[in-house]
Amino acid sequence: MECLTISNLCKTYIINKRQNNVLRNINLTIQSGEMVAVMGPSGSGKTTLLYTVSGMDEATAGKVDFFGKELTKLSANEMSDLRLQEMGFVFQQMYMLKNLSVYDNIILPAYQVAKGNKKQSREQIKERAKMLMQKLGISEVSDNAVTEVSGGQLQRACICRSLINQPKIIFADEPTGALNKQNSIDVMNELTRINEEGTSILLVTHDMKVASKCERILYIEDGDIRDEISLGKCHVGDNLPARERKLNDWLIKLGW
Ligand SMILES: Nc1ncnc2c1ncn2[C@@H]1O[C@H](COP(=O)(O)OP(=O)(O)OP(=O)(O)O)[C@@H](O)[C@H]1O
Ligand SMILES: [Mg+2]
Repeated sequence: MECLTISNLCKTYIINKRQNNVLRNINLTIQSGEMVAVMGPSGSGKTTLLYTVSGMDEATAGKVDFFGKELTKLSANEMSDLRLQEMGFVFQQMYMLKNLSVYDNIILPAYQVAKGNKKQSREQIKERAKMLMQKLGISEVSDNAVTEVSGGQLQRACICRSLINQPKIIFADEPTGALNKQNSIDVMNELTRINEEGTSILLVTHDMKVASKCERILYIEDGDIRDEISLGKCHVGDNLPARERKLNDWLIKLGW
């Protein structure tokens, strides 16, 4: 089943009357349950792609379908409901509320879902948040204010929050960007596990090790998908160095 179908997507920013065509005619399909990485040079349009596809930013032209629903036709309210209930976000600028604890930030999206649409009871939300914090290793800082945790802990809290409403897809922009090697491996293992349970994942990364755990890698340059490579699903016990070598050879060919 197709999760996301992106057709002829364009995004143009205009600054001081100068036009910047950041996304030029992107065509892309993400299957339900797929885990896809987006790589490419700085400024090539990776973050813009995530923002535009998820309706955080308006497309200049083109069409995005999410499980057959045309996102580009939804009203702002419909789009924000859908984002809240069906999508999870782990972004570079982390939209955490500074005066709330880690735990409260994580459960907030669950309470924001309109009453009639609630997927989870209060008790289920609490249990799920606890389970997620435990898996990501941040239970000890659950009651800390988000200003009182490390960058890596905050990043992991963001992942917990993105998962609280059991989304169909997760958009992640450099989800391991602020993490050390071990935390980065933990986060990727967690994302892989979530993906195995059926959640689609579209992530942006500069890290080859992170990308090599994904099923398919896209290379964006100047707002265009220049090439892609399929490595197949990554399972526990897979030959990671072999996947990394294959990816590395491909990236070198692209001049990365
Ligand atoms: N809100 C905005 N208004 C105007 N221009 C923008 C805006 N956001 C991004 N841009 C421009 O769009 C281009 C692509 O930016 P984008 O953030 O998508 O790049 P990126 O591939 O994510 O880069 P990085 O790897 O450095 O995060 C850049 O030239 C940037 O200056
Ligand atoms: Mg970016």
